Amino acid sequence: MSTYKAFEVREETEKNFVGTIVEKSALELAEGSVSIEVCYSSVNYKDALSASGSKAVTREYPHVPGIDAAGTVLASTDSNFAVGDEVVVTGYDLGMNTAGGFGQQVTVPGGWVTKLPVGLSLRDSMVLGTAGLTAGLCVNKLLLNGITPEAGKVLVTGATGGVGIIACALLVKLGFEVVASTGKLAETAKLTALGVSEVISREAFSEENPRPMLKESYAAAVDVAGGTTLVNVIKSLSYGGSVAACGLVDSPALSATVLPFILRGVNLLGVDSVELPLAQKQQVWNLFANEWALTDIDSLAETIVLAELPAVLAKVLAGGAIGRYVLDLRA
Ligand SMILES: NC(=O)c1ccc[n+]([C@@H]2O[C@H](COP(=O)([O-])OP(=O)(O)OC[C@H]3O[C@@H](n4cnc5c(N)ncnc54)[C@H](OP(=O)(O)O)[C@@H]3O)[C@@H](O)[C@H]2O)c1
Repeated sequence: MSTYKAFEVREETEKNFVGTIVEKSALELAEGSVSIEVCYSSVNYKDALSASGSKAVTREYPHVPGIDAAGTVLASTDSNFAVGDEVVVTGYDLGMNTAGGFGQQVTVPGGWVTKLPVGLSLRDSMVLGTAGLTAGLCVNKLLLNGITPEAGKVLVTGATGGVGIIACALLVKLGFEVVASTGKLAETAKLTALGVSEVISREAFSEENPRPMLKESYAAAVDVAGGTTLVNVIKSLSYGGSVAACGLVDSPALSATVLPFILRGVNLLGVDSVELPLAQKQQVWNLFANEWALTDIDSLAETIVLAELPAVLAKVLAGGAIGRYVLDLRA
């Protein structure tokens, strides 16, 4: 394909960013690069920020967002990849200041590219995408910190969102008793169908509480919210518990005392899926293709096409995401 379709975002008037479908020309292939025909991408919170003009994510427009891409190699000047290889790219600069997966082609350094593991389809890799990779990294950190199903309940915040829903599904698969916190109690049936044992309102964690520690309720947690939510989660961990913190949908701020750390020995574990070394990303992809393979993975995502992106991006930006959105670019 010398030309291909992409969803390109432009600053139409000052601070008014609009995305349209345009025809683009293929890029020259620099040394050590891989050109990929993108079959699927997915929609993440960061894409919604990029598409709405967040300069913290994307400095210059026009720009093609999309921090995830899965497809087949069209051409490669990196000897690790051959034409026709099925590959996945997530994170690094893809979709931030490098044209991303909301186009039918991406050209990226070979060091960003993972081979699709046997056992995972291209589409399933994008049902997971950055959100799934991040959920997997959070769960892995909890496991490495010794959390077991016998230790007690695990809380997941933002449970209907991308990271949250995959974290719930994975923890249930691994035998944990999962408590899902959500702002969308109307989606309770969807969460219980995943095997979550309890669904609670997001408001239980969103109010500031002057007490330095709360009732010991959870052995562990996956938190996508940050801010007051994360502070309340830390205060609610039981002795020796851990929270994997990966997001900031509530707030990037963290105003806490050290008391839960020094009196209950709890652990605050940071998770980054963007700049993480490729070998560690590959490990998590391999787990999802094997012992972490999610049953009924299709039910976690809705498939959309380029023309549906504006509505879905607006929904994600407003915190209205329900599960994952896979972008099918094959048409
Ligand atoms: N560290 C990393 O490498 C990494 C990677 C991926 C994502 N992230 C971050 O993780 C977060 C979640 O990403 P995502 O892709 O899952 O986003 P998403 O699909 O948009 O889901 C976010 C969910 O958070 C909940 N939420 C929204 N506003 C909230 C608030 N004020 N307080 C508490 N919960 C709120 C909502 O779920 P409910 O209605 O169910 O509560 C929403 O659906 C984002 O901050 C993203 O930037 C970080």
